[in-house]
Amino acid sequence: MTLNSAPMTTSAAPAATEAAARPVIEIKGVAKTYRTRDGDVPSLRPLDFTINDGEFVVVVGPSGCGKSTLLKMVAGLLPPSEGEIHIEGRVVTRPQRNVGIVFQSPLLLPWRSVLDNVMMPVEVKKLPRKEYGLRAMALLKMVGLIGFEKKYPWQLSGGMQQRAAICRALVHDPKIVLLDEPFGALDAMTRERMNVELQRIHRETGKTALLITHSIPEAVFLADRILVMTERPGAIAAVYDVPLKRPRTIDMMADPVFVALTQTVRKHFNVEGEIH
Ligand SMILES: Nc1ncnc2c1ncn2[C@@H]1O[C@H](COP(=O)(O)OP(=O)(O)OP(=O)(O)O)[C@@H](O)[C@H]1O
Ligand SMILES: [Mg+2]
Repeated sequence: MTLNSAPMTTSAAPAATEAAARPVIEIKGVAKTYRTRDGDVPSLRPLDFTINDGEFVVVVGPSGCGKSTLLKMVAGLLPPSEGEIHIEGRVVTRPQRNVGIVFQSPLLLPWRSVLDNVMMPVEVKKLPRKEYGLRAMALLKMVGLIGFEKKYPWQLSGGMQQRAAICRALVHDPKIVLLDEPFGALDAMTRERMNVELQRIHRETGKTALLITHSIPEAVFLADRILVMTERPGAIAAVYDVPLKRPRTIDMMADPVFVALTQTVRKHFNVEGEIH
């Protein structure tokens, strides 16, 4: 694994990483080969990486390099072929209670209201409905969806649906939030707003976050650290610290530090794969 650090160190390091360097997700020699009828598909080369408490790590890499595979293994939805993933010191062998997931499309059930969609993990995990109902409403308030809790997903815009999906991922108060291209389907302006929103939620809740994106500016905007992956079978090409202070604003995208880091990350793709 190559460990590059960003060439610029002007601003203060993010508070989350400074305050607590306690490992929450440990990826130890994790590799994945899918066994299919047509033969083996090596998808990830052995990876070693640690994500600390409260840290926001963003993964970028070419299509098909194994990003979603990695996320599913961290969530315990897929077993690694080699190596181990530890969450809070315990090896992951099954779907994790302490993890919330946001997928690329909101995947809300059309016949359930927004609130009932948000409450789904509470039902699945058989948590106390009353207490968590209040929490669901507090989350909906936090993302500006109060007044929409009784509406159905199809009565909401794409961005509103994605905000509801984020509430659903947070309702059972997981320690870790995993996000797989959560804003890929949104228009550029909504996406920027969602980035600001997600940063705010992360700051308010102090969750440990692992997000996959094809957008390099989104990665720089959100991340404490960016993990760049190679083409399939994916390996870590580089890791960059993002030295921009928080809270970050959309205006900071014009900051020379921001621009330089996006260019540095983008260079990997000019050499190693396509860019979206
Ligand atoms: N269920 C599966 N069975 C066999 N091969 C699979 C399966 N899922 C993924 N793969 C293979 O593993 C590789 C990695 O897939 P993965 O979905 O993790 O990529 P990704 O980096 O998330 O891509 P994208 O950016 O397009 O979402 C792919 O090239 C694909 O061929
Ligand atoms: Mg994917």
